[in-house]
Amino acid sequence: MTTKKTMLSAVQPTSRLTIGNYIGAVKNWATMQADYDCLFFAVDLHAISDKRGAPELRDQTYRTVATYLACGLDAEKSTLFVQSHVPEHAELAWVLTCHATMGEVSRMTQYKDKSAKHGDSIPMGLFAYPVLMAADILLYDVDLVPVGADQKQHVELTRDLAIRMNNHYTPGWDGKDPTKVKPALFRIPEPWIPKLGGKIMSLQDPTKKMSKSDADLKATLFLDDTDKDIEKKVKSAVTDSGSEITDADDKPGIRNLLTLQSVLTGKPIPEIVAAYAGKMYGHLKVDTAAICVDAIRPIRDETARLMADRGYLDQVLKRGAENARKRAAMKIAHVYDKMGFIPKT
Ligand code: TYM
Repeated sequence: MTTKKTMLSAVQPTSRLTIGNYIGAVKNWATMQADYDCLFFAVDLHAISDKRGAPELRDQTYRTVATYLACGLDAEKSTLFVQSHVPEHAELAWVLTCHATMGEVSRMTQYKDKSAKHGDSIPMGLFAYPVLMAADILLYDVDLVPVGADQKQHVELTRDLAIRMNNHYTPGWDGKDPTKVKPALFRIPEPWIPKLGGKIMSLQDPTKKMSKSDADLKATLFLDDTDKDIEKKVKSAVTDSGSEITDADDKPGIRNLLTLQSVLTGKPIPEIVAAYAGKMYGHLKVDTAAICVDAIRPIRDETARLMADRGYLDQVLKRGAENARKRAAMKIAHVYDKMGFIPKT
């Protein structure tokens, strides 16, 4: 039995991963994985909520896992798997759906943004999406969920659902130490958001989050972009009026480039700003492009190598799913028991 705390997180395999996914999420998982009992997975069931029938789903799912490994996730230390290989995610999602309210789910910012383009035909899966995410987390008694800033609201919803179900099915549960005295149905997870880089902005509109699904490919740095693409995109990044390089609220474009540099080099922003005294935006862009090329190149090359070795990826996923399924099956049986379902014989 491990005494480490449990950490879990995931990426939607809807497209190639971006430098935002890396900085906001996967890079931090790799750093923290030694200190936690970790589960990382590709949420293929989530991926169909907004893009049904995508022919590239299989390829993107493999690519997501290959990118995890290329970013430093270690299949020997962490459990790596694919969501649809563990059916309990969908089972627990239904249970949580019956305890979530339309009101609280419709307040989710991401739902409001993503549903806007669907007019009157919003897929139900898009609405139910955060409840499936809550199931992903609550299924494994997770302590920590390292995510970018945009996912914080979903983790808060997860906490609300867990507390509600604990109050209903395990009244008197001990919120401070749910594993002792009065066991709770679910452990209450904490979100973990990086202090810097929790929201990397679009290169074409620095007031908007960088997104995998941005129609403007110049807005996003993908982790498999060529060196040339990276250089072109960073050099044509939209910057702000004025010419002085400062970290200020009215310079979101410059701040975004400074953030990329700081997170990728480990240098604090004030130190970077000081080094640009008297220099032009162009200098900042050239250096940021070079730093991004250096960060992305090894990830791109290793992802390509792993993508050519499906046998290895399948082996990692098989092992991960076996481990995750064992844990998930025990948890769902416990939840069903507390709720009054007749045990399977
Ligand atoms: P997804 O696939 O949109 O993003 C994966 C992770 O990357 C972070 N992220 C960013 N961080 C900084 N700057 C950005 N521009 C940026 N864009 C994305 C996200 O915050 C996220 O951490 N619902 C989730 C996937 C999910 C999940 C889970 C996560 C499903 N189940 C359980 C944690 C735990 C999502 O769509 O992430």
